Amino acid sequence: MKTFISQDYPQLCEAVAKNVIDCVNAKPDALICIAGGDTPLGVFAALVEAQQQGRVDFARTQFVGLDEWLGLGNADKGSCREMVWKHFFDKLTLRDEQICFFDGLTDNPQAECQRVDGYIGQHGPIDCIVLGIGMNGHIGFNEPGAALDMTCHVIDLDPITQTVSVKYFGTQRDVKQGISLGLKTILAAKRIVLMASGEKKASIVADTVHQPASNAIPSTLVKTTQRASLYVDNAAASAL
Ligand code: F6R
Repeated sequence: MKTFISQDYPQLCEAVAKNVIDCVNAKPDALICIAGGDTPLGVFAALVEAQQQGRVDFARTQFVGLDEWLGLGNADKGSCREMVWKHFFDKLTLRDEQICFFDGLTDNPQAECQRVDGYIGQHGPIDCIVLGIGMNGHIGFNEPGAALDMTCHVIDLDPITQTVSVKYFGTQRDVKQGISLGLKTILAAKRIVLMASGEKKASIVADTVHQPASNAIPSTLVKTTQRASLYVDNAAASAL
């Protein structure tokens, strides 16, 4: 796995965005997946700017969501849907059929998994996936110990993930489960971009690079493919 270290967060986001732009310019109807959470927010801004400047055109691109908190929807501040729409989809002119995103408010999570798996089956494999790294090394909501052979599925959230979630919601919410693309789907992507920013991620970034590839730290699993790259800023690289 190649590691790219940027000076700061804006440069990191430009570098990550370039992966998506290159992918879409090479294949306008590419299937793209970008994580929610804080880390990719600058990537969304860079991609919106690139479209406004005519450096990329998402008119035919397909987008699939990475994950969602079960029980939360668009009206819930900090849900993946709320964040990704606010910072990205609402700023592009996309048709509904270009987006497949988990409905966290579903009363039938299994059917929801089948729906998203079906979409990926139709449009996939994912051409470019941009992943953040959880404080416990999760990717998507694939928590430590996640099975390697899973597609979309429902997950019991790790206590660390539940604690960290307060930063999105601004308050403690009763989130116990998530719904996520599984490791099998993620690792089958043609281009995997793992990104991290800031000193608080330095330790898990070092573990990702130096610990053996195993589902004990899911982010280490991207090392098992040549199709993956790690993008970090100086602060996140400080323990490497
Ligand atoms: C969010 C997601 C998570 C986050 C990870 C890092 O959709 O899939 O795996 O990428 O928890 O979160 P941030 O970027 O907020 O530090």
